[in-house]
Amino acid sequence: MTADLFESVGDTRPPREAMAEGAVVLRGFARPFEAELLPALRAILKQSPFRHLVTPGGHRMSVAMTNCGSVGWVSDPTGYRYDAIDPESGQKWPAMPPVLRRLAADAADDAGYKGFAPEACLINRYVPGAKLSLHQDKDELDFAAPIVSVSLGLPAIFLFGGLKRADKPARFRLEHSDVVVWGGPSRLFFHGVAPLADGEHAVMCRQRINLTFRKAR
Ligand code: SIN
Ligand code: FE2
Repeated sequence: MTADLFESVGDTRPPREAMAEGAVVLRGFARPFEAELLPALRAILKQSPFRHLVTPGGHRMSVAMTNCGSVGWVSDPTGYRYDAIDPESGQKWPAMPPVLRRLAADAADDAGYKGFAPEACLINRYVPGAKLSLHQDKDELDFAAPIVSVSLGLPAIFLFGGLKRADKPARFRLEHSDVVVWGGPSRLFFHGVAPLADGEHAVMCRQRINLTFRKAR
């Protein structure tokens, strides 16, 4: 039995779960893409490896990041921005592989957002203990497009709040191959990831990788 088949056995969760108006979890949506997605991801990481970015406040993030696509999201002491150049390599970010493009567009479509064509994919790596504080995705020029977020590896608790930082976030457990799509009325909702619990994932080992697709400009 392959790890992939093993993963699918006993997944009795409902295939979709509404999170808020305009926001939904699509359970296991990335599974049919996995065989193509993982080698594509490995090739990206060879070219632009994970690194821990520094926030404008001078804090080094516990989540390691990289990007693929025509622009990538970066943070440094001067601020947050989308940049066509990987500051570490001085070269363009790796191109977005067709399988990632397809997965993002299909998930958006399934969630009711037709024609999603992201040019940026932020890739986040969480090891046990890593977390992402509540934030809004607001460095994009176009808030009409949704955000599509793919979870791989160890399960995480995704925090999904409201338009105000103080809104108490709901907690959603995201597992390997789950995809979250948020847009429309919830496009600017605060969200984050609770400190990752330790564990060992059959396919991804001791980590969680998240792919976040954005229409950046
Ligand atoms: C993000 O908000 O950029 C990432 C969310 C996640 O890792 O699920
Ligand atoms: Fe985000």
